[in-house]
Amino acid sequence: MLTGQHTQYLLRQIENIRKGERLHDTPEDAELFRSYTDEEIANILAWISRQDD
Ligand code: HEM
Repeated sequence: MLTGQHTQYLLRQIENIRKGERLHDTPEDAELFRSYTDEEIANILAWISRQDD
């Protein structure tokens, strides 16, 4: 689902999840996403964006 999507788009969605403006899967996920550093998020997105659909 996330594979092949652009990292800037995904980063915007993660920021929205962190701010509580978008629901991820469960409400607690907002706290989980805030617990990752920006560098960790960037590394995860770089990896995801390179996977095949
Ligand atoms: C067991 C792990 C995971 C589950 C069950 C899960 C579940 C979901 C679900 C249900 C949605 C759709 C929400 C909606 O309809 O609005 C979603 C979207 C999303 N998830 Fe996850 N997710 C998981 C892991 C992750 C991870 C590890 C990341 C990134 C670090 C991530 C980032 C995102 C993003 C950015 C979206 C929005 C995608 C879009 O707008 O197309 N998810 N996830």
